[in-house]
Amino acid sequence: MQIEWHIAPISEWRADAILFFAFENAPEPLPGFRHWISEGSSWPGDAAAAALADFQWKPQQVALFYAPQGGEIPRVICTGLGPADKFDMDKLRGAVSAAVRKCRELRLASPALPLQALEGLPVETGAALREGLMAAFSSLYHYDALKTRDTEHGEFPETLVLLAEKEPGEILREISSLAAASSMGLFLARELTILPANEATPSYLAEVAGRLSEQYDFRLEVFDLEKARSMGMGAFAAVAQGSREPARMIVLEHVPPGTGQDPPLVFIGKGITFDTGGISLKPSANLEAMKQDMAGAAAVLGAMDAIGTTGLNRRVVAILPCTENMPGGEAYKPGDVLRSLSGQTIEVISTDAEGRLILCDAITYAQSFQPALIVDIATLTGACVTALGTRVAGLMGNRDALIQKVRELGMEIGERLWPLPLFDFYFDQLKSDVADFKNVGDRTAGSIVAGMFLKQFVPDGVPWLHLDIAGTAWADKDTAATPKGATGFGARLLLELARRWPELATEA
Ligand code: BES
Ligand code: ZN
Ligand code: ZN
Repeated sequence: MQIEWHIAPISEWRADAILFFAFENAPEPLPGFRHWISEGSSWPGDAAAAALADFQWKPQQVALFYAPQGGEIPRVICTGLGPADKFDMDKLRGAVSAAVRKCRELRLASPALPLQALEGLPVETGAALREGLMAAFSSLYHYDALKTRDTEHGEFPETLVLLAEKEPGEILREISSLAAASSMGLFLARELTILPANEATPSYLAEVAGRLSEQYDFRLEVFDLEKARSMGMGAFAAVAQGSREPARMIVLEHVPPGTGQDPPLVFIGKGITFDTGGISLKPSANLEAMKQDMAGAAAVLGAMDAIGTTGLNRRVVAILPCTENMPGGEAYKPGDVLRSLSGQTIEVISTDAEGRLILCDAITYAQSFQPALIVDIATLTGACVTALGTRVAGLMGNRDALIQKVRELGMEIGERLWPLPLFDFYFDQLKSDVADFKNVGDRTAGSIVAGMFLKQFVPDGVPWLHLDIAGTAWADKDTAATPKGATGFGARLLLELARRWPELATEA
């Protein structure tokens, strides 16, 4: 879907359908709607009023009306927002999604959203436009490249027209192009996560990184298993050695001219392209879901894609440790003691706690960039799904103010995160008799203990955040603006974090 602005007096507006939203129990539909019927649309006000009279405006309830005499805008699609006093951005996301899905069902090529439809809402118009457009893109996403039958033909809508009577100004125009760019990044993250492990291999992820590097002039370095081992990445290498599929440590860097010496933001994404559990083999039920264990890496690649398209003027480094976790003949074993790149030794208790092992070497490697901030994002623990469910990600780190800011940022963009505490005593679980520490603790506070493990690799002077997306990377059901399947969770958050970094940093 494309976004196009059309600036003209109402009488010159053209579209396959026009979209409006309204609150339940409100005496009148939104002001934008009344204005449109009275100011030159071919719709007589009475007919519209009659058509609307029976409508309830429940959240996501859609009503479709046809113009009494055809005209330049033959259809109105009205979507309910629920009661005004319960309004939040999710209601708008849900309404926009329901409206554009209706357009797709009707195979409408270019429906239109008048800016006035957003101006009557109790939120800032820019934010409503941003979240509305993101919801429109997000809810239309579908992936059927691996199907040869029952696929949809044609893209509907092709264009979402934004209608305004006068020039909307630079800010709103920027918001609309940013929404398109972030959506493409989000889609890349989703696609990579949906792709099964026989397609989305570590080398495939390296190819995608290569494509981004050509497209946006990113610096790219890719280390294979031998190279990683020779560099001292003993923890990453141990996980990789049990698989025949070649591993890749991918380092992708956005360095705008003149920023080569700036301390970068470093994004680290867990890239386990399939997690069997290794020798600590997982049970076979639902094992196919473990193709999603590279969703962290996918989110980082999605963010980098959007950073490339929007030409962010800040240095950002992506580090993606990518490998399968397999129980092959050369696989690492419980009891093995690994020497990590940091020099610290790790006793392996479970080979299924592999995510922290590949991440810890990436975190240590990140120090060579003298980072301003490290963010790692990973489908790290089943415990996080137990604690927070599938719609809220776990958020940990070593700067409370920054955690607070990022939590608020997540709320604003509809990617919810909730803090879990990293008190020092949690580390007691990781004490080992033979090595510096173990890779798993007892069965309690599993997500936090994983966070404590990672914390051992972060110098105190370096701000660090850890996002556990084990629950949020995949949705079994449709929600307001996200179809079931891979969600791409985190791609947008990382992009927005990079865009807003100076504000977040000064207050952190
Ligand atoms: N990839 C899994 C975590 C996971 C679970 C992701 C569910 C997505 C959905 C991770 O590598 C893992 O297996 N973690 C173990 C850790 C345990 C051995 C301490 C877990 O959560 O059981
Ligand atoms: Zn695992
Ligand atoms: Zn895993």
